[in-house]
Formats: sequence, structure tokens, C-alpha cells
Amino acid sequence: MTTVIRVEQIADFADQEVTIQGWVYNRTRKGKLVFLLLRDGYGFAQCVAFKNDLPEETFEEIARLTQESSVEITGLVRADSRAPGIPGGFEIGITGIKIFQIADEDYPMSLKEHGTDFALEHRHLWLRMPSQWAILRIRSTVISAIREWLDTNGYINMDTPILTPAAAEGTTTLFGTPYFDEGTAYLAQTGQLYNEANIFAFKKVYCFGPTFRAEKSKTRRHLTEFWMVEPEVAFCDLDGIMEVEEQFVSHIVKRVLEDRAPELASLGRDTISLEKVTPPFPRISYDKAVEMIAEIREKTEDSEEKELLAFEWGEDFGAPHETALTQQFEKPVFVYGYPTAVKAFYMEPWPDRPEVCKSVDLLAPEGYGEIIGGSERISDPEMLLQRIYEHELPEEAYQWYMELRRFGSVPHSGFGLGVERTVTWVCGIHHIRETISFPRTINRVYP
Ligand code: 4AD
Ligand code: MG
Repeated sequence: MTTVIRVEQIADFADQEVTIQGWVYNRTRKGKLVFLLLRDGYGFAQCVAFKNDLPEETFEEIARLTQESSVEITGLVRADSRAPGIPGGFEIGITGIKIFQIADEDYPMSLKEHGTDFALEHRHLWLRMPSQWAILRIRSTVISAIREWLDTNGYINMDTPILTPAAAEGTTTLFGTPYFDEGTAYLAQTGQLYNEANIFAFKKVYCFGPTFRAEKSKTRRHLTEFWMVEPEVAFCDLDGIMEVEEQFVSHIVKRVLEDRAPELASLGRDTISLEKVTPPFPRISYDKAVEMIAEIREKTEDSEEKELLAFEWGEDFGAPHETALTQQFEKPVFVYGYPTAVKAFYMEPWPDRPEVCKSVDLLAPEGYGEIIGGSERISDPEMLLQRIYEHELPEEAYQWYMELRRFGSVPHSGFGLGVERTVTWVCGIHHIRETISFPRTINRVYP
């Protein structure tokens, strides 16, 4: 038997005999030729069976293969610029085949167009489609780039608990679960508070895991279960954390451009805009952002759009505002200094202007909006206690968190980057639900 190759490496095997193991994605017959588009998990490759080169019986078997039939094909790799595939440009002249299973003919996700509900209901099969396959390969690269950057820049990975005693990001999106004699435990909305403890032992840390929010809104940016990476840094202020964020995000995008070019191309992603993602990123204050939104609204002729962009100082931005704002920039943009009232309890107030806090969101360009939320944290014990009262949070549950401010408190900052929001932007797709293998949303927990 010849070497089993991965289709992503096909260019390295030009003019060699190889074996690929995979599934039939498409089959067409043209007289004495049968073309199979085979997917092997690493790519899609065109394989050609020529009647004169194969035993009669083998050729007829190939000609009858159904979509999703599982096979092992041996053949000669030839460069051919017309050959479709991911990456394209090569085809395999079939010299032998082993059939594992002829798939049933009633494959639900056949090549015709399907509605989104149907696709989501068949997510276990939808994953096999080229677009979904490409998105999830890019996701995997985003995740390894995240770890690569943090691990090589002095961050220690600390995994924080999923079962937690109290809210950290507002009480309205908590998922509760009965917890023995302890009452209710809540699925983590963030690992941040624990990381604020971790930095006093390790200085720079990150947690990376699933995050849960009982989001009642049905939007194309929200999941109820998503993955978030949260770096936290001691001796770091708001400006310092923005520098970290721009380096970090630029690295992620660069890695995807380098390692996932065929996948990006298969999605039709315009990579010119991604190539512009290099430090520094523009930084604008919330006040400035409000002015910009008012100007955009002024110029808008569409009355519906005007309505959507209505806004007053003190509110949090909605998707339409973020979209309009980010369309003004070629790179991701930092918006800092949000009103204290719309942000979490732990954010450091602005000096001499307590109605504003040292928060910063990073908004992705091309209308994608918030991919990172972060801030400098309150380091003063009295101030923190006051905030806990103001937010009517249970003081006892935050006892340990308060203690961090009494034993070696320092300015510190951190942020959380949403993996799925980032992948949505990098892939240039419309809806977040395609960026995780089995999405969880307000109205779906199947499959
Ligand atoms: O802005 P958020 O709520 O910030 C925090 O949770 C902080 N504790 C993070 C920190 O400072 N350590 O969430 C951070 C990011 C958002 O910018 C977004 O990318 C993502 O998490 N996110 C969601 N992604 C998908 N679905 C949801 N429902 C999300 N909620 C937040
Ligand atoms: Mg946020």
C-alpha cells in the first residue's frame, strides 16, 4: 500500500502514487470518465476514474458511488490548474479503490440548498459541508494562535471553575443548577474574578473555557454557551491592556492568514482587510463614539436606519451602533471610557469623572462589532465595597475577592475575547452559530 496522505498536503505529492481515505462528496460521469470529489477531513480533492485504466467491474462500482460513501482511493497525483478542490489545482488518477460502505441514498444534507433550520437540525451532518468544515478549521487555528501567543508571552494558563457561587457579569444572564446543600450554583459567565486572585500568585495568567450566559435575545452575535479566553495582568493599566489586546488580536489574524489560506479562499473571504490588522489600533473614547454615531445618523437617509441609530449618552451601544461605528475604520477599534452605569461592578472609575469607567471594548471592523470586553479593575478596597453595595450583590459571596484588595493590591487589568465572535469576523460570515460545532442558542439544544 502507498502512503495515506492528507489532502491539505497534496501539492507535496505531485507525480507520486498516494492513498487517500475519505468520503464521496460529489460524483459526476462524463462518458468514459467518472469524477469524484472526495473529502478526507483535511481537504477536498478531485479523483478521476478512466474506464480504460480500470477493470470493468471497478469502474462500474465507482460510477455508482453515492454521496457520503466511505472509500480508500489509490492513484497518481497530477497538477491540473482546472481541478476543483480545497486546495484545488491537483487531481488524482484512480488506480485502485477500497469501498468501506455505500452510503444510503437518502442522505438528508444532499447538495441542494437547505434552509437554516433544517441545517441546524442536521448539524451532525452539516459539519461535512465545505463552508462549515472551513469555518471550524479556522476556529481551531484561532484557538491554537491564542494559546501560542499567551504561552510565549509569559502568561500562565489557569483554569477557573465552571460552577460558581455568584454572578460576575450581571444577574440577568445566570444559569443556575441545584448544588447539594449549598443552594444554587451558577454556570460561569466569566473566569475573571478568579483570575484576579491568580495574578497575585503568577502575575500574568489566562483562563480559557466554555462560558455560559442565559441570553434572552435572539441575535446573530449571541450564543448561550461560547468560549472565551481571559488574560489578566498585574501592574497593568488601561493603556497597557490595550497594547496587549492589539498585539494579541494581530497575532491571531496573522496566524489564520498564514495557515488557513485555502479555507479563507473557499469561504470567499476578502483577505485584504485582514492583512490590515496590525498594531496599533485606533483608540476612541465613548464620548467621541457617541458623536460619531450622531454624525452618521445625521447623514443617513433611510428612516428605518435612522430609527435604529437613535442614541443618547449613557446608553450601551447596540449592534446597529457598533456596526455603523466600525464601518468607519479599516482596523479593529478600541472604544474606552464607557458610562459606569452600563458596565460591570468591578471597573475602575475614571479619575475625577466617576460617571465614566476605565473599560475598553474592541470592535472588529466591517460591521462585526464587539469581540473583546475588558477594563482596568478597581484596586481600592473601599471603592470596591461601595460598588458591591450599589449593585446589590451579596457581600458574603465576594469576601475572598475583597481580600485581594487588602494584601498587596496593585493596578491590574484584563479582558475577555469571545472565540466565536472572532471566528465570525475572521471568516467574514453572517451568523455566529456556524462557528462552533454544536451551537447552543435560546431555542436550540439539539443535536
Ligand atoms: O464583555 P464581556 O461580557 O466581558 C467579560 O465577561 C469580562 N469578564 C471579560 C474580562 O474582562 N475578563 O464578554 C467578553 C466577550 C465579548 O466581547 C464577546 O466577544 C464574548 O465575550 N461574548 C459572547 N459571545 C457569544 N455569545 C454571547 N452571548 C457572548 N457574550 C459575550
Ligand atoms: Mg461586553
